[in-house]
Amino acid sequence: MRMYDLILKKRRHEELREEEIQYIVTHYVDGTIPDYQMSAFLMAVMLQGMTHRELATFTMAMAKSGTIVDLSAIDGVKVDKHSTGGVGDKTTLIIGAIVAACGGKVAKMSGRGLGHTGGTIDKMESIPGLTTTLTEEDFINQVNAIGLAVIGQSDTIAPADKKIYALRDVTATVDSIPLIASSIMSKKLASGADAILLDVKVGSGAFMKTLDEARQLAHAMVDIGCANGRTMGAVITDMDIPLGRSIGNALEIKEVIETLHNGGPPDLTHECLVMAAHMLAMVHKGLHTYDECFHMAQNALESGMARESLRAMIDAQGGDSRVIDDVTILGEAQYSYAVTAPASGYITHMNTEQCGIAAVMLGAGRLTKDSSIDMTAGIVMQKKTGDFVECGEVMAILYADDASLFEKATDTYVEAVTIGSAAPIMGDIILDQIV
Ligand code: URA
Repeated sequence: MRMYDLILKKRRHEELREEEIQYIVTHYVDGTIPDYQMSAFLMAVMLQGMTHRELATFTMAMAKSGTIVDLSAIDGVKVDKHSTGGVGDKTTLIIGAIVAACGGKVAKMSGRGLGHTGGTIDKMESIPGLTTTLTEEDFINQVNAIGLAVIGQSDTIAPADKKIYALRDVTATVDSIPLIASSIMSKKLASGADAILLDVKVGSGAFMKTLDEARQLAHAMVDIGCANGRTMGAVITDMDIPLGRSIGNALEIKEVIETLHNGGPPDLTHECLVMAAHMLAMVHKGLHTYDECFHMAQNALESGMARESLRAMIDAQGGDSRVIDDVTILGEAQYSYAVTAPASGYITHMNTEQCGIAAVMLGAGRLTKDSSIDMTAGIVMQKKTGDFVECGEVMAILYADDASLFEKATDTYVEAVTIGSAAPIMGDIILDQIV
């Protein structure tokens, strides 16, 4: 087989056979296929697309380039969730706690934040003592015992994706639906869950800017999972507005805990209940309807059972679980600054990516993989899209350990907020569901 012929075949829009796709992935990872040929292939995929069969095979080949986590020692259906990334998205811990409280098994590997989006692992590490690194044995034992474990994704998961992603980043081939879908799903397939719920975000704070693109991505990922024997579902959620009220690691954990005490923001609570219900419906397929699962999730939240699941997880992972009853344990930034409205009117739009960037400017996120983050930095929004503000009224409080960061972050935040005279029409945060 020659890579030249496979590039030509893809360029001519002909379907590649399974062994041809396997050849490409295997020999790109082992270094036999050079970057320039893989770049040409990726560009051909970007322009010509991939058939369902090609995409399912390509994704599994990428998954098999590294460790496939064996979760068979965990009893029952193992269920995972994945978000395509957003601002203020702290749903994983809330949903995981609800699903575990309802008997689901959540063995989850999560990532760190990069750019304007946050990552669950960074947020978790704002809890004193908590580790996000467990041995495989401890990970499995913890899920069997309490139904929930969240750890960082190991470097051995889908190394092909790591190498291909780095190449896409410099060859203008990132924003291709088949390449994004295979990248995300290779890591999900390697993580070993039986059922996967995807949260595809759409809007100014998300990768996908239109609902149509988000639907295409969701369908592509669902198809890949189904073709590889997984139970799949996807929800498409609005990221044209930050989720909840907080952006920043410790601030978001505080909001997670408030939500598990039934005092969370309505948008965040609603999205978590819908997603948890879909995950439970996958776990209890044929036994309970989605509506029954929604009630189960609601009951787990309202009764405090979900809160106890998170407490058990924090304890099991060495964290200070007193944080569940005393969020001051998370610490507070040294300085705060109130951002006021420059005019009176309704907030008609928030550029969510810009809001995320303002939080990064305060120290809450990292611009490169190696930069460090300030756990207590971030933003608490007092007013969001749809709210009326008076000129001079506080819209948000910024937090940082360096007061000199406030000026630029304030400018960025104020620029992100559009104020107009007419109240915007507010729709449901759940834009579509593919189940
Ligand atoms: N997230 C990923 O993991 N891969 C992509 O290609 C895009 C977003």
